[in-house]
Amino acid sequence: MSELDIAFDGESLITPDSIASQVFSSTNPVRDGEFEEARAELALHLRVAEQQFQSETDVGQIMLRLLTGLHHVRNRFSPKVWEQLIPIAQNHAIARHFHEDPFTRWSFEKPRGYSGDAGLLDFIYRHPSKQAMLDAASPMGKAVNAFTSESPACVAVRERRDLLAQYVDDVASSRGGEAEILTIAAGHLREGKMSQELKNGNIKRWLALDQDPLSVGAVASEYEGTAVEAVDGSVRTVLMRSQTLGKFDFVYAAGLYDYLADEVAIKLSQRCLQMLKPHGTFLFANFADEIPDDGYMETFMNWALLLRSEEDMWRIMRATTEGLDVECSLRYGANKNIVYGIIRKLS
Ligand SMILES: C[S@@+](CC[C@H](N)C(=O)[O-])C[C@H]1O[C@@H](n2cnc3c(N)ncnc32)[C@H](O)[C@@H]1O
Repeated sequence: MSELDIAFDGESLITPDSIASQVFSSTNPVRDGEFEEARAELALHLRVAEQQFQSETDVGQIMLRLLTGLHHVRNRFSPKVWEQLIPIAQNHAIARHFHEDPFTRWSFEKPRGYSGDAGLLDFIYRHPSKQAMLDAASPMGKAVNAFTSESPACVAVRERRDLLAQYVDDVASSRGGEAEILTIAAGHLREGKMSQELKNGNIKRWLALDQDPLSVGAVASEYEGTAVEAVDGSVRTVLMRSQTLGKFDFVYAAGLYDYLADEVAIKLSQRCLQMLKPHGTFLFANFADEIPDDGYMETFMNWALLLRSEEDMWRIMRATTEGLDVECSLRYGANKNIVYGIIRKLS
């Protein structure tokens, strides 16, 4: 199966392997001796962390130093070389400390079979459903979690949830109770709980579409009796138009484009624009290419993402909107770990 098929197919699993060839692709040739140099640098960072664990250095301090080191190694060497370093870090003795953190372990083990499931996001959102696992963690696990849950990427994801709820509320209040919203890859739709307009009954219809039946079931029961309708569907079903979803004032996707190659991202964005009513808005979020946690995520969490720069986002927006009467804009969240592409229809 090709990369494109994997990304298109909602039934296919999003595994680190399935997106690795995109994430770690590079046209830069690998220098002679580059791998050995990189491996030695990584080994040093891991060894220092190991010694610090042995001497009971503060866990936050160990992690800050190690995450910074991993980030630098990742950026300094070719992606192809970095890809070969990942299993070395994963198999190092210190990995066991990080996996005492239920959040890191969940990401690494992938209990739903794919990366970035809504259950993992619930750790980030500090959802009550994850509290028992956190309470049962060892003192080491708790200390690691105190660090990982406050990482810039997690802070940005919590802000993303709040920003999305604000966008929904702004659209809803401007449509006088007639707003129709579509969330693609909704997960557990945690932003729904933050929406005042949903609470006030001021939204006509809010479709929450996801490929994971467990998440669809959770949304269906949690939002019973509200304007939210859980829909079992995928990027593939949206692109194939196999479901009649209708037209919307606001369509958005968060935590999805980080897994989609440009070709699919553009096709999906074009389809989303077609589903907009006049003057509707489409928004897609992506982790930015300079997140400091990338090295830790790709090694100890086994969570590889397609990180995007401003130019990457503009390339998707330009290709999506060629010849259309729209206005494109780009914004970051407060700590610049997540970037948002926003396309508004002008007619
Ligand atoms: C990182 S979570 C984000 C969930 C939610 N949007 C949020 O921000 O919390 C990614 C979600 O994308 C869904 N997903 C992944 N691939 C998909 C696909 N091809 N079609 C539809 N949903 C998909 C997963 O099931 C998961 O719920």
